[in-house]
Amino acid sequence: MEVATTMLISLIISISALLAAALYFITTKINHSSINLPPGSLGWPLLGETLEYLRAAQDGKPERPVEKRMDEHKSPPVFKTWVLGEPIAVFCGPKGNKFLFSNENKLVAQWWPTPMQRLFGSCLLTAVGDEAKRMRRMLMTFLNPDALLRYITTMDVVTHHHITTHWQGKEEVKVYPTMKLYTFELACRLFMSMEDPQHISRIAAQFNVFLKGFTEFPISFPGTRFYRAMKAASAIRKELQVIATHKRAALEQGIVSPSQDLFSHLLATSDENGRFLTEEEIVNNILMLLFAGHDTSSSVITLVMKYLGELPQVYEKVLTEQLHIASSKGHGELLQLEDIQKMSYSWNVVSEVMRISPPVIGGFRESLVDFTYAGYTIPKGWKLHWNAASTHKDPSLFPSKDEFDASRFEGSGPAPFSYVPFGGGPRMCLGKEFARLEILVFLHNVVKRFKWDLLIPDEKIGYDPIAAPAKGLPIRLQPRESKA
Ligand code: HEM
Repeated sequence: MEVATTMLISLIISISALLAAALYFITTKINHSSINLPPGSLGWPLLGETLEYLRAAQDGKPERPVEKRMDEHKSPPVFKTWVLGEPIAVFCGPKGNKFLFSNENKLVAQWWPTPMQRLFGSCLLTAVGDEAKRMRRMLMTFLNPDALLRYITTMDVVTHHHITTHWQGKEEVKVYPTMKLYTFELACRLFMSMEDPQHISRIAAQFNVFLKGFTEFPISFPGTRFYRAMKAASAIRKELQVIATHKRAALEQGIVSPSQDLFSHLLATSDENGRFLTEEEIVNNILMLLFAGHDTSSSVITLVMKYLGELPQVYEKVLTEQLHIASSKGHGELLQLEDIQKMSYSWNVVSEVMRISPPVIGGFRESLVDFTYAGYTIPKGWKLHWNAASTHKDPSLFPSKDEFDASRFEGSGPAPFSYVPFGGGPRMCLGKEFARLEILVFLHNVVKRFKWDLLIPDEKIGYDPIAAPAKGLPIRLQPRESKA
């Protein structure tokens, strides 16, 4: 009976949400019919052009709908569309990126689609204005360059352990799921001091369900992917609340120090006005960082391994650089910052992988006021999108755009705002440096010990919503003969 009542309430809420969305679509069309909006189409009622964007993402060509509009409207600086229940102005090219990144809190503010807002709740990702600045400052304490220095050795230790457990002695490995576990283990260890492999695997499994809700219509009705994602989010939150209770008690008894990990730091530290984050905000921020801190990096490491498997000459050059670093170290000596700084060719390779296949397609802002851009009116409340995938494939910015060429990143590298895998401006990725370290530490250890063959030639890369090989990138390992 109780289940039937819950389902009925969910059904009524879902139908009301659909009706409200339909009404929103119709009123947007009518209210804005006399305004000089950017070119483009809002597409089908309710759905807009969502399916075309989702299909392109699944096909691994997220730039396709943008390129199509660029052709149709003769390279517009901005065009309109309707995706995931919202009217969206897509800002094109480096000029569009620069405009959005430089106008945070003036004309625009950070925004993520409704499914993500509902899944994450109140945290840095969903905060704007002063609230976002405060949260960024508090989280930055754990992600600033000084703090990161302390993480390199932990990253190296976790990587050794991971490779010994999941790679050594194996003939074949499916890279993507293994990498997700690796980056998740690392995030759990560094953010929460969690080391129990079973506990980590349990939360990691919930995360995979949670992530699938990001590109769904936010209809929380039993059976939908969004409903399952909301359930997974609340299961993870419950786990995090239990950890919060234990950590608070340990802090009060002086058993752990506030600098033990990010979780303890957030529980024990107030901002400059003496205000603490609420427990709900702490849990939501940790949930957000566990997501942001592992899904993107695991995608990048997997894709780097795919490209190195396809391009033996690039693999050899990365190997030479890493062996040179290894040869300067004593047996068992862990990596330090100066070693990472010597990995410039390897980082150029990683950068080229993120150019061709940016792990995140792009991001969003919301207009805070009516404003004019390139002669077009952008109404207040419209959602604004910058698209890394299409900027990275613009042949005028990246000649021979489909060719893998790490030398594009030598010297001063690509022109400003043309290479944006981490976004830009005051809301640029907070974990860029953290990601650089974990990717390079892993790369060092894996090339030193293995060469590999791809078991599926030309495996397709799709986005759901992060870039990943369709079959998880199975590879055959060949251990390298080395003393390292
Ligand atoms: C290669 C790996 C990564 C990529 C490609 C990436 C990409 C991005 C992008 C595109 C954004 C949105 C930026 C914008 O809208 O301007 C973002 C935001 C963010 N990222 Fe990353 N990220 C990566 C790794 C990480 C890691 C390892 C962490 C944490 C340890 C992290 C934490 C965050 C946070 C907290 C935000 C929100 C910042 C804000 O809203 O102020 N990211 N990331």
